[in-house]
Amino acid sequence: MCRTKLTSRLLAFILLFFSCSVPLESKSYKNGLVVTAHYLASEVGKEILQKGGNAFDAAVAVQFALAVVYPRAGNIAGGGFAVIRTSGGDYNSLDFRETAPKAAYEQMYCDKDGNVNSDLSQNGDLAVGVPGTVDGMMKLHQKYGRLRWGELLEPAIKLAEEGVVLSLLEANKLNDYHDQIQKQNKGKSLVPYLREGLFREGDTLSNIALARTLSRIKASGRNGFYEGETAGLIVAEMEKHGGIITAEDLQGYQSVWRVPLIGDYRGHKIISMPPPSSGGVALIQLLKGCEMYNMNKYSFGSFEHIHLMVELERRVYADRAAWLGDPDYYQVPVDRLINDEYLENRFATIEMDKKTNSQDIKAGSVELIESFETTHFSIVDSEGNAIAVTTTLNGNYGSKVMVEGGGFFLNNEMDDFSSKPGFPNQFGLVGGEANAIKPGKRMLSSMTPTIVEKNGKLFMVLGSPGGSTIITSVFQNIINKIDFKMDSQQVVDAPRVHSQWLPDEVYAEAEALSPKVKSKLEELGHIIKIQNKIGVMADIFVSDSGEYIGVADTKRHKDSRASGY
Ligand code: GLY
Repeated sequence: MCRTKLTSRLLAFILLFFSCSVPLESKSYKNGLVVTAHYLASEVGKEILQKGGNAFDAAVAVQFALAVVYPRAGNIAGGGFAVIRTSGGDYNSLDFRETAPKAAYEQMYCDKDGNVNSDLSQNGDLAVGVPGTVDGMMKLHQKYGRLRWGELLEPAIKLAEEGVVLSLLEANKLNDYHDQIQKQNKGKSLVPYLREGLFREGDTLSNIALARTLSRIKASGRNGFYEGETAGLIVAEMEKHGGIITAEDLQGYQSVWRVPLIGDYRGHKIISMPPPSSGGVALIQLLKGCEMYNMNKYSFGSFEHIHLMVELERRVYADRAAWLGDPDYYQVPVDRLINDEYLENRFATIEMDKKTNSQDIKAGSVELIESFETTHFSIVDSEGNAIAVTTTLNGNYGSKVMVEGGGFFLNNEMDDFSSKPGFPNQFGLVGGEANAIKPGKRMLSSMTPTIVEKNGKLFMVLGSPGGSTIITSVFQNIINKIDFKMDSQQVVDAPRVHSQWLPDEVYAEAEALSPKVKSKLEELGHIIKIQNKIGVMADIFVSDSGEYIGVADTKRHKDSRASGY
């Protein structure tokens, strides 16, 4: 082995060693496993499995529990995507993404001079998309569930009634967002997430209004949210505070079963989310690029690994901006975008000793905000059913608007549309016609719930929050496993890097780049920005003997937990 190769292997080992804050071993389970961003939600999912529920029952219970214990991202008034692999080897995906209200229009966030007011698409009632979560959970349960619907709501109702003991993370987050939540909820009563003094770790927080809303959903299914009292509360909120969602919008909302996107990567099958998420297309493009350039011949953390990843990402995110949107409103050329010949041409311009310039493509340059407000959970059961769910309010606490009497936050998903061609959203992502606002249309997403098979067997279930960094976090976990042959804990712990075409910058966690690799990247012109953390993975791995290994990303989010039995 030549000296440089030996040195870079040694460096990779050292980087990995120092990046691991917990022992490099994860517990394995035989019967079922739930990995979520909050220990209480993971326990809820495990208990549903132990009661005889399957992975899909557990997913429904976890989704509702997260709305109580993790209100900044868990939700009943947001949306998301689920990717499914049944024990029989069938695949499916569920799109419960929010939609633009009927009264929405392309220029709704622009003033008369065409300038975008991002505050309107990010905060307050005008930022809210028609929620998809409750309809999505109903459809998931109707098709795959085994336990009674009501049973799946009970743990969340109990948590809301009895109260949740705040973790340090959640207490701090509520304090950080106090002013913003207050601004959007002036004069309202029963806002449990606002108080005079500071929230502290150990405080117990109940939410009786949310318990009542969940009880209505328990009793009446989707009608407990999209009709009757809950719908009335949402419409009253809209009418009072300048929102545009109507009773008709709520009644008309439908989640959609979609054929998942399937690709191959070095003998593995990748099952991921099709549009209106950009996640699956972008992930498959990136993996095909790695195959073309033989990523597996490089060492983890080497200059070649990072440079190649960034150059692939630059091209993939440029495609995202131009071609991805809601397939029911825009002809998204999915087949072409993941076609081998197309990608060979697309990636042919990559040179290992030259940085490509993104700056000649005109678009705003913004700071990437550290955003972890979406949440992901992965579940497997004793029969081998698997589900990967990514769900979101978009921003932390969404639009910050709480429905008075309802006890829940409304999303600010309208910001995921392109408010104006080339104008960046909160994640710095740009878009155009494909993702322009239209009534009833779904906004483009980066959520990438994904399942990987090896030799026809379940191999990985994974996903992450993090806005635009979701795709690259999932991507890096897959190549960490397949190309760099890391063990499960290392896959998740290993430091991450992200780039997205515009802004023309490379974001790296502190331990991701050695001084030597950083200097070499900078010499080529890459602009490096250190990011506190990128993504929060919730991964399940299946060992050769069929045991489940769950890895919660506790290094980046302490409350995450893998609960199995
Ligand atoms: N709201 C973040 C996403 O869907 O990508």
